[in-house]
Formats: sequence, C-alpha cells, structure tokens
Amino acid sequence: MAKMWAGRFGKETDSRVNDFNSSIRFDSRMYAHDIEGSKAHAAMLAAKGIISEADGKAIVGELEQIKKDIRSGKLEIDMTAEDIHMFVEQELTKRLGDVGKRLHTARSRNDQVAVDIRMYLRDEVVCIKALLKELIGALGGIAADNVETVMPGYTHLQRAQPVTLAHHLCAYAEMFLRDASRLTDASKRMNLCPLGAGALAGTTYDIDRDMTAELLGFDGPTANSLDSVSDRDFCMEIAAAVSIIMVHLSRLSEEIVLWCSWEFKFVELDDAYATGSSIMPQKKNPDVTELVRGKCGRALGDMTTLFAMMKNLPLAYNKDMQEDKEAIFDAVDTVKLCLSTITPMLATMTVNKENMAAAARKGFINATDCADYLVKKGLPFRDAYKATGVLVARCIELGAVLEELPLEEYKKVCPTFDSGVYEAVNLLNCLKGRRTYGGPAPEQVKKELENIKILAEKI
Ligand code: ARG
Repeated sequence: MAKMWAGRFGKETDSRVNDFNSSIRFDSRMYAHDIEGSKAHAAMLAAKGIISEADGKAIVGELEQIKKDIRSGKLEIDMTAEDIHMFVEQELTKRLGDVGKRLHTARSRNDQVAVDIRMYLRDEVVCIKALLKELIGALGGIAADNVETVMPGYTHLQRAQPVTLAHHLCAYAEMFLRDASRLTDASKRMNLCPLGAGALAGTTYDIDRDMTAELLGFDGPTANSLDSVSDRDFCMEIAAAVSIIMVHLSRLSEEIVLWCSWEFKFVELDDAYATGSSIMPQKKNPDVTELVRGKCGRALGDMTTLFAMMKNLPLAYNKDMQEDKEAIFDAVDTVKLCLSTITPMLATMTVNKENMAAAARKGFINATDCADYLVKKGLPFRDAYKATGVLVARCIELGAVLEELPLEEYKKVCPTFDSGVYEAVNLLNCLKGRRTYGGPAPEQVKKELENIKILAEKI
C-alpha cells in the first residue's frame, strides 16, 4: 500500500527499509488502546467543532467496530503496515472514505504512541499487581501453617540463628508488598495524558486536552508538549520495578532450588510442578524456579535496553524510541509468566518440618543465646562471646551440641554457668525469646501475618 506520507517522495521505500522501519509485529498488541485513544480524540474534535458531529459519530462508531472485528478475528492485522496506528487509520479510511481521513487532525503519531503505551502499561500494571497479591496470599498461607516450624536462619549460607519458615516467607511477602507499591507509584506518575502534544509543539487547533485526558481515565493532561512525546521514563520506571520483582523472585527461586536438593530436603515440589531427566530416572528437578532465576537476567536486560536507548537522545521524538516496546513488553510478559507459574508451585509444595528442625539442631544456631545467657547474669558481652566460642570448639571436639554438653564442661569455661543454661539454649525458647518487633517469635510473626493480609488487600 502507498505510504500515507508518499506525497513528498519521488520513490517507493526500499523493501528492506520498509521491513526495518515497521513496528507492527510488536505494536499490534496495542490495537485496543490505540483505538480507545482515537475514539477519545475524535469525540473531542467533534465537541470542539473541529470536525462535524456526524463525522465524529461515524468515526467513533467505526473505530469500535474495527476493534470488535480485530478481537473476533474477522479483521486480520496487516503485517505489512508500518505500525498499528497506521493500520487502524488506513482501515478506518477504507471503511469511511474521506471521513476517516479527518481523524488525524490536530494529532501526530508521536502523541498517539505516547498515549497508547501509557494506557497499555496502566492495564498491565493492574494485572501484575493482582498476581503479586496472589503470590503474597500463597506465601501467607504457608507461613500461617509454619509459625512454629523452626529452621536455621543463614548468613553467608552458614547456619546463624533460629528463625521459622513463616518468618522466612514473610520476609519475601514484605518484598512483594513493596514491589506492588512501587508499581502503584510508577503508575500514578505515568497517568497523565500526552494527547494534544502533537508531533512536539502542540497544535494551532482549539483542542480540549482536559476532555481527552478525562475520557481516557487520566488524571489530567501532561504539562509540556516536548516532554510529552520525548520521554519514556515511565517505561524505564516500570521496567525497573519489574526488574526488582524479578530479583526478588530469583532469590526466592534460588532458595527453593537449594531446599529441594538432597543436601537440604526442606521442601518437596508437587509432581505437577517439577520435571524429570531424560537419562537419570531418579531425578526430580525444580525447573520452574531455575527458569525464573534465568528469566530475571532477561528482565534486567530489558531494563538496560530502555536506559541505553534513551541516554543520548535529543528532544523530542526520535525513531530510536520505537525500540521501547519490545523491551517493555518482554519485561511485562516475563514477570507475568513467572508470577503466574511460581504461585501455584509454592501453594502445592510440601514442607518437610522434620528436616528443617534437624538442620536447626546442628550448626550451633543457639550460640548467641548461650552468650546472652551469660550477659544476663552480669558478664560483659565480649567475655560471654569468647566463653561461648570456647564451648562451641569443645562441642566440635566431643561431637556434641550445646543442648547436651555436660554442665561441668560449661563450668570449666566459665563458673557463672548453672543448669539454667539448658533452658537458654533450648531452640524453641531461643525462638520464642526473639520477641522484638519484626522478630521471628511466633506471636510476632502472627501479628506480621495479620498486617501483611491487610496491606495485601489494599494492593
Ligand atoms: N511506530 C512508531 C513508534 O513506535 C510510532 C511513532 C512514529 N512517529 C514518527 N514520527 N515516525 O515510535
């Protein structure tokens, strides 16, 4: 088909340039948003008397029909078109003739594409937030059953101090709550309407930018026409928010991979969420979590693509910016895919409380509590710390743990010890004693869980 802008040119576009230039392969997914934007623009043009009432009505009605026809499959999107904006306009003109040609009055593809991506991402953000809410619900469900499931808390992947599975999973729930709020913030900043900015310098027509903004559910129009068409910071922000979600998912996945290993065996995945090996019959692999971990790199790459694409661009629109879509679409698709797969995987996973408890019994995760016991009896912390270190070394020598070390061994190191030490190093007591706000004591975690539920409701 002849180009809309063919008038100025003496030659047809080289077919290689045509293909290179075209974005329809990836921007066709915005057809519904593009059509909504155009409907609002046409309604505004009619309301302001820039086009006739009758033309406005015809355009709005036919655009709606085109949307239905695309959705039902009756109208196939022409993959040789330059982009989705051109395709819709060409189809409208095919159907309405001269009336269709009036739609693009007081508008440019530059403000059009800027409004389309904003609307598209606004919907995607709602979807990602709903998936985050489900994930937080699944984590909360497992946590509620495991407020007394003692496990070692780790630093440097070395057993450190006692926590519970509930406390551990609530840590992730907190991250995902912040992730949701980051998306809310980004979405709020994004929700201003660039329509009316035109190509870059507004328009001489007496348009009503407040009207189009309101019709499309924006909080108002953007304040500067150059800025409206030339920044993609909202894409960068959402890609960054998505990347952080992916980093959180990847860390959780890494832990599940470890926990599924024979070395840990803290959890077992449901057969429906694990995979086998083509050669090793005994294998049950946590592929889902490994893929999530892998796809995190992909989201980070998408974010980097957007930042690198923008960094040297002069104002206003530059064609480089067409590259925004594949990156931000991939980031959004990736996080949705990961969230919707990992949530049911977690919800169906079996927890091996006994193995967690067994791991907690080894590794001297009550050593700090032993030192604290001496401190409560009046010893300075550094002395108590040193004495406990000697006791741990003695235990290792004897193949014992602090809970079983005879009292005379304790007394040899420090005469302050009495039989009360056994209460102090009892794992459940160590856990229950950590009652500080945000700590792992079951009563604290129950409160945290309640709070998580309330915050998740507000997502
Ligand atoms: N397909 C283009 C994009 O995605 C639409 C805007 C084109 N504007 C232009 N002046 N060529 O950015």
